[in-house]
Amino acid sequence: ASAKSLFLCGQEFESDDYTNLTDRIIEQVNCGLHRQRGHPLWLLTNRIVGHFNANYTRSRSRPLFTVVDNLSPIVTPEQNFDSLLIPADHPSRRPSDVYYLNRGRLLRGHTSAHQCDLLRQGLDAFLVVGDVYRRDEIDRSHFPVFHQMEGVRIYSQEQLFAGAKDSADSLRMFDRSRNRTDEQQAGHSVETSKLLEHELKSCLEGLARRLFGSSIAYRWVPAYFPFTHPSWELEVRHSQSDGGEADWMEMLGCGIVEQRLLDGCGLPNRTGWAFGLGLERWAMQLFSVPDIRLFWSKDPAFLAQFAQPCQPGADLWQPVQYKPISVYPPCPMDLSFWLPAADASFHSNDFYDLVRSIAGDLVEQVSLIDEFRHPKDGRMSLCYRIVYRSHERTLTSEEARTVHDQIAKSAVTRWAVQIR
Ligand code: PHE
Repeated sequence: ASAKSLFLCGQEFESDDYTNLTDRIIEQVNCGLHRQRGHPLWLLTNRIVGHFNANYTRSRSRPLFTVVDNLSPIVTPEQNFDSLLIPADHPSRRPSDVYYLNRGRLLRGHTSAHQCDLLRQGLDAFLVVGDVYRRDEIDRSHFPVFHQMEGVRIYSQEQLFAGAKDSADSLRMFDRSRNRTDEQQAGHSVETSKLLEHELKSCLEGLARRLFGSSIAYRWVPAYFPFTHPSWELEVRHSQSDGGEADWMEMLGCGIVEQRLLDGCGLPNRTGWAFGLGLERWAMQLFSVPDIRLFWSKDPAFLAQFAQPCQPGADLWQPVQYKPISVYPPCPMDLSFWLPAADASFHSNDFYDLVRSIAGDLVEQVSLIDEFRHPKDGRMSLCYRIVYRSHERTLTSEEARTVHDQIAKSAVTRWAVQIR
């Protein structure tokens, strides 16, 4: 007899000690919100792609960037981590942060998982759009499934220096005498580092201006990713609607592709850049959507607000601002329990998943508000605050209480905790 197996996207997977997919997540796999005409993520994706196609072309105005939006989210650790030079002991690989089908398959945590495959296939400029999965806290801006767009462009020496006119002949892409610094990779010439950084940043600044308007305030912040160097994050300033202090919000990560990655793809004589941006973040900012869970809403009153610019033949760029349908009161409840003595297997993300599996969209936020160790027997006590709130109606406290009690009961069965 075989071990328990799992069916996903028409395939069967054997479970093992890494398996941690919940039914809630399984339901959302391959949701394809970005491919659903009329959905705000479809609208945003089409605006971005439209911008790239209008500004980056090959001969006879063919688009430079190939758009890939239908790759399976089920990938191998090799694709999601190793191919991107992510170390074997890197925390982003832990089952507490990643949804594993089993040791050999997982739900991609970023669209970067496809970089190497597409480069090996011979693409030199592409945009990948897809759903990505991360085990995380639940709140207004975090959801275990969200969408990313990846952009990659690589250049030959001629392509990189094509705009450099007469001096192009004397410029060299590589200069073996140069060492790695904060500003550049080993072996890249000064011109290469400068040009790639300029091309990357002006591409993304152009995109941000096209989407948010030319008066948008932004800044570049140095960042770290194992697969790019140097790396940056783009932050955009948004003034809060309540008139509060303006905030800087991280909108994307990017950088110069590590040469070792390109070498591994059989492209030692190319250099290039890559970026990855979170579509929900951009859409929340752009359309004033206050809660990430709204993207999952099937409420016609939500989707109707984005319908107009999505009509075939309509102007994709006509302004859209989300107007809250109504606001129902939140209903917070606390749950405190003792973990069994010396229990190391309990992780907060497991608890968040349990809450979501039971409460579904009635849960707005779960946070650990208190934890302490019993001075005598060493047991841990944890207190979580769960905020229940419906988008559709006012929850009665009895309703919230019923769900809350169910969560408590499941926690007892699952981890043998002792409710306080
Ligand atoms: N994959 C990174 C993330 O999800 C973003 C990124 C993409 C950074 C490409 C650099 C280059 O955070």
